[in-house]
Amino acid sequence: MLIKNISLLAGLNPGGILRRRGSDMARLECMADAWLRIAPDGTVHSYGPMDSLPVAAESEECVDACGGMVLPAFCDSHSHIVYAGSRHGEFVDKIHGLSYEQIAANGGGILNSADRLHETSEDELFAQSLERAREVMLKGTGCLEIKSGYGLTLPDELKMLRVIARIAETLPLTVRATFLGAHAVGRAYAGRQGEYVDHIIADMLPAVAAEGLAEFVDVFCDRGFFTTDETERIMEAAARYGMRPKIHANELDFSGGVQIGVKHGALSVDHLERIGDEEISLLAGSDTVATMLPGASFFLGMPYGPARKAVDAGVTVALASDYNPGSSPSGDMRMVWALGCIKMKLTPEEALNAVTINGAAAMGMSHSHGSIAPGRKANLIVTRPLQSLAQIPYQYTTPWIKSIIIAGKAI
Ligand code: NIG
Ligand code: FE
Repeated sequence: MLIKNISLLAGLNPGGILRRRGSDMARLECMADAWLRIAPDGTVHSYGPMDSLPVAAESEECVDACGGMVLPAFCDSHSHIVYAGSRHGEFVDKIHGLSYEQIAANGGGILNSADRLHETSEDELFAQSLERAREVMLKGTGCLEIKSGYGLTLPDELKMLRVIARIAETLPLTVRATFLGAHAVGRAYAGRQGEYVDHIIADMLPAVAAEGLAEFVDVFCDRGFFTTDETERIMEAAARYGMRPKIHANELDFSGGVQIGVKHGALSVDHLERIGDEEISLLAGSDTVATMLPGASFFLGMPYGPARKAVDAGVTVALASDYNPGSSPSGDMRMVWALGCIKMKLTPEEALNAVTINGAAAMGMSHSHGSIAPGRKANLIVTRPLQSLAQIPYQYTTPWIKSIIIAGKAI
């Protein structure tokens, strides 16, 4: 495919960098008046200025961007899109004033989703989840991390992870799987949290690893969920199977999750609504990506993570959707980009880097995803004609996206 008349080709990566850290997040490498060629294997072949537009081969599809921009597709590094049914009842409870923790304490929340998932067949779970994966792909996500964690029993966790694998086989988008058995204590282990953690380590992790169903391990390390000691035990066990941690940390309290995540070389620590100077300076001095989830803050009315402060301190910040039925029922990464600007005071360029290259880094995928360069995956967003990139997060509901290209093909 040859795309011509691109007013701005943004998110280029001539230096082959794998992340943008701190002040470097303000940099967005661009070429004005450009063309871009996609190789038959679905990677970027080459690009250049319009005055050197190559002649299209006979077999080549030629696309006129008509003065629109081309950006890297979004890399959403934190989602829980495999779930059964819906939790709109809890949404109404929240309107009536119940908090996320009160809903969880009343048997709602994650355990409610685990009950629904248990009753749902694998095929039905696949059908429901595939629809959401398609939805986010059509909104511009080209690389997506999906977590288990609504199973909470060995068979149901495996069911979720198999569904994630089927989504990866079915759609052209790139999927990474994370085992989140420690999302809540399964009902059968109520009041026996330590034994549930033992069960994760002795039975679940080996089974997940034996089937090769997850690249990463996650733990909900927060007040009322799992302790730092339990989190460390799970991370140490997972490391024996080569599963790197991506930790839910500091959503509800200063949980210590950032400290142990960094200590264990976590690829990312996620949420971070409640972090201070100590956590920020630790993250600035490490390669762990700080992934913030403004959609959850928006939906639950929580504070937003201090993204501005973290970027100014030199942290690698990613933004992700957290698409899940309880705290963020949306996987719209354009909305996440806009919230990054509107609520977290990142510039449009910083926030775009946070939802592309840094999101890819939080999945260990930035060598192939999240930026535009020869050899990298041709996952691209083509926009309508725009005066400035800032218009996309500014007019945040205007349908600026004209088409999405995933693995080199328009979808
Ligand atoms: O990332 N915080 C923990 N887990 C999810 C919410 C899960 C749910 O409520 O179903 C989150 O926000
Ligand atoms: Fe989450």
